[in-house]
Amino acid sequence: MGKVNRLKLAVLVSGSGSNLQAIIDACNSADYPAEIVLVFSNQPDAKGLDRARAAGIEAKSLAHKGYPGGREAYDHAVSELIAQSGADLVVLAGYLRLVSESFVKRWEGRLINIHPSLLPSFKGLHAHEQTIAAGVKYSGCTVHFVVPEMDAGPIIAQAVVPVLADDDAHSLGQRILRQEHRIYPQVIRWIAENRVVVGDDGRVTVRDSHSPDFAQINPVTRQG
Ligand code: GRF
Repeated sequence: MGKVNRLKLAVLVSGSGSNLQAIIDACNSADYPAEIVLVFSNQPDAKGLDRARAAGIEAKSLAHKGYPGGREAYDHAVSELIAQSGADLVVLAGYLRLVSESFVKRWEGRLINIHPSLLPSFKGLHAHEQTIAAGVKYSGCTVHFVVPEMDAGPIIAQAVVPVLADDDAHSLGQRILRQEHRIYPQVIRWIAENRVVVGDDGRVTVRDSHSPDFAQINPVTRQG
């Protein structure tokens, strides 16, 4: 759309790619300051690759199974594809594969992830099951910069949803996904607008933002 200086994104997916779709949709709006230059998957049959192709975006995959040289060699090949695409920011969107330390180092500060819990709680796989088992009354999603330690790294934004009494992992997951689709494109916009600052203490501030000051209680009863 004749845009200058849009932030170039490489989006890495393994599965359905609904977050990818939210980012594609955001990029389709004329005033959005980013564009996707590459969608990559470690799963050649990932639905996310179809979403990319349907949107006219370059989509590539490399099967990780049996890749010669193991994880380091594989991640190096992925890094090369990303570098060739000219991406400024690497966006992990349901990329269900641990990335190696050298991959993280190469893209440090330019590599973000979304996780379906309020980190630092419930890292790793099966976040929704962990959330329900713990009996917490709120959950949500977290967008953060990636560091070598899994699901750690400076937190940029979180969205909160209630955990309902009759939730299962699927219903909770769907409620959280709707918020993922809001905050991931939002955070990418902030990064593109150069508003995301990581302090020396590892805490992130977003320029020209404010935090809503409210409290909610879950559950509520008729009495309050
Ligand atoms: C999301 O829940 C995300 O938080 C997690 O993997 C899931 C990906 O979903 N990292 P989708 O492929 O974007 O639909």
